[in-house]
Amino acid sequence: MYKNLIAENKEGILYITINREDKLNALNIELLQELKQVVATIYSDASIKGAILTGKGAKAFAAGADIAEFAKFSESEGVALSASGHDIFNSIERCPKPFIALVNGFCLGGGCELAMACHMRIASENAKFGQPEVNLGIIPGYGATQRLVQLIGKAKAIELLLTADMISANEAKDLGLANHVLPTIEDAMKKCEEIINKIASKGPIAVAKIIECVDAHFSKTENGFEKEIKMFGWCMTTEDFKEGTTAFVEKRKAIFTGK
Ligand code: COA
Repeated sequence: MYKNLIAENKEGILYITINREDKLNALNIELLQELKQVVATIYSDASIKGAILTGKGAKAFAAGADIAEFAKFSESEGVALSASGHDIFNSIERCPKPFIALVNGFCLGGGCELAMACHMRIASENAKFGQPEVNLGIIPGYGATQRLVQLIGKAKAIELLLTADMISANEAKDLGLANHVLPTIEDAMKKCEEIINKIASKGPIAVAKIIECVDAHFSKTENGFEKEIKMFGWCMTTEDFKEGTTAFVEKRKAIFTGK
């Protein structure tokens, strides 16, 4: 169905694989547009409980935006490319269902920015993270100057952004960039599935509202504390809240319906 991606719904988990192995899964414009469509299905398809995004093969998650494609861009084309990337990556960050990056191999530039837009990053030991844009005389255009600071703090973020140093999976974990590091890609996949299935057993409305409130912390227009107060009260109007509290009192497992 897609030229640059593989998207498969297996038992409610959407497995998205960036499928440009010969180009180290570099993100071209067509691929990003396909990703936009796939992300929209996660919002709209009730059978999907979460998504795992990875790169085809063992060598790369994604080695960045496709350099060959934007090498001759004008200023306005650069602005349009960056804006459309932001739009897609924001829709991943705001996705109401868990969206996990399984980071295998090179996770550079736009690839690292894509992984950072996901809710969590589960890495295999061969993963390498970095923002090498400065080597090309350009700055990151898909959010790294903001999300890397959010995730690891200004001091280390600015060091990685200015030096273009690549770091190992374990260094990324020590910095808080990777949530977990597993020995192999298969182990990392199992971890992603385990996390999504665990979250799927919780109240889906609460899951979605937590994502919204956490994002509000980084918003310049919203007050995260005020949002939390409102959403806490609003959750009490839901059937899921009644079911969750009743199940607790009745000492049984809650059956949430997302209503
Ligand atoms: N954009 C476009 N093509 C890319 C790419 C990118 N970001 N990263 C890798 N490729 C392509 C290479 O051009 C090469 O294609 P070819 O076989 O048609 O020549 C293929 O993927 C394999 O890459 P290669 O460089 O030969 O692999 P390597 O193992 O020697 O090096 C890297 C791996 C990741 C160190 C190297 O590919 C690299 O530095 N990539 C660019 C990283 C980057 O600057 N990303 C930020 C972009 S804004």
